[in-house]
Amino acid sequence: MKPFASRIVSWQQRHGRHSLPWQATRDPYRIWLSEIMLQQTQVATVVPYFERFVARFPDLPVLATAHEDDVLALWSGLGYYSRARNLHAAARVVMAEHAGIFPALPTAIAQLPGVGRSTAAAIAALAFGQPCAILDGNVKRVLARHGGIAGWPGEKKTETALWQLAESLLPDTAIEPYTQGMMDLGALVCTRSQPACPACPVNVDCIAHTQGRIDELPTPRPKKTLPEKQVQMLLLLDRGELMLEKRPSQGIWGGLWSLPELVPDADAVGHCRDRFGFIALTQQALPPFTHSFTHFRLHIRPVALHLAPRHNTPPGQIWVSLADALDAALPAPVRTLVRQLGRQ
Ligand code: ADE
Repeated sequence: MKPFASRIVSWQQRHGRHSLPWQATRDPYRIWLSEIMLQQTQVATVVPYFERFVARFPDLPVLATAHEDDVLALWSGLGYYSRARNLHAAARVVMAEHAGIFPALPTAIAQLPGVGRSTAAAIAALAFGQPCAILDGNVKRVLARHGGIAGWPGEKKTETALWQLAESLLPDTAIEPYTQGMMDLGALVCTRSQPACPACPVNVDCIAHTQGRIDELPTPRPKKTLPEKQVQMLLLLDRGELMLEKRPSQGIWGGLWSLPELVPDADAVGHCRDRFGFIALTQQALPPFTHSFTHFRLHIRPVALHLAPRHNTPPGQIWVSLADALDAALPAPVRTLVRQLGRQ
C-alpha cells in the first residue's frame, strides 16, 4: 500500500479543489487572509468576501494603513469580527516588527494576532513550502477517524495525540497538495455526517471505517448545561430608519453596531423616553429566539417600537435605513432581526 501522504496527494490532484482564488498564488498576504476568513466559515461564503477584500486592500501595507472601521465594513456579514480586528492588528505588527515582509517561519507566523498553530502551519506550507502539519477542525475529524483516536478533540490530551499523528504522516515532498488535500478531504469526503467513505483514498486502513465507528469518531464535546441569559432588544424605528448603537470595544460583539438592550421584563416604552427622550407610538413584540455562544445561551426578546418623529440623535448612535444597516458590522442575531424586519 502506498503511504498515507502519497494517497492524499494523488487524490488531491484528481479530486481536490484547484480553482479557489487564493490557490493560484504564493503571496503570503493572500494565503494568510484566506486562512483567516476560512476559520469557522465555508469556502462558498468566503470567496466573494475574499475578492472584495483584496480589491480594496491589495497588499499588506495598504491594509496596515486602513481604518479599522473600513476593515470591519468589508467583513460585514462574515461574522466573528475579532478575526478582522486581529488581521488589521497583525498587518501593523508585520510592518513594525518584520519591515513589512511576511514572516516565513511557522513559529514567527504563530506570534501574529489571530494566528494559531494550525493557521501558521497552513500559511508556512502553502506560501513557503515548509513541511508543517495543520490541524483544523476538518483535519481533526479525518485523523481522529483514520487513527481511531477517541476523546473530544477540544481536550488537551486528545489534541496532543492528534498533533503527533499529523506530524507523523507528513510527506517529504509535495507539502502544498498534501496540505490542501487534507483540507479538501475533510470538507468534501470525510464530512461530519454521512461521509463518502467509498470515495476516500485512505479508507482501507481507516480505523473508524473498518471498525464501523464512523458515527462515534471524533468523540463529541461533552454535553454541559450552559448558563442562560435573557435580554430585550429594541428596534427603534422612525420614518423607515433604525437606530443602531456602537458597542464598547471590549466584551461580546466589541465594536459592532447593535441594538439598545434592556433587562427582560422592563418597560420598553418608558426606557425609550427616559434614556433617549423618544416617544414610542406603537410597540410590537417580535418572535423571541435564542443565540448560542460557546459559554452561554442568550434568549432574545425583540421589540419593535415606532417612534414619533425624533429631533435628536444621542451620541454613539446612528440612524440608518434597513438596507444600509445590513452593510454595517452587525452581530449575527441582529442581522437576522434586521432581515426579518425588512421582509415585513
Ligand atoms: N479551509 C481552511 N483553509 C482552506 C483552504 N486553503 N482551502 C479550502 N478550505 C480551507
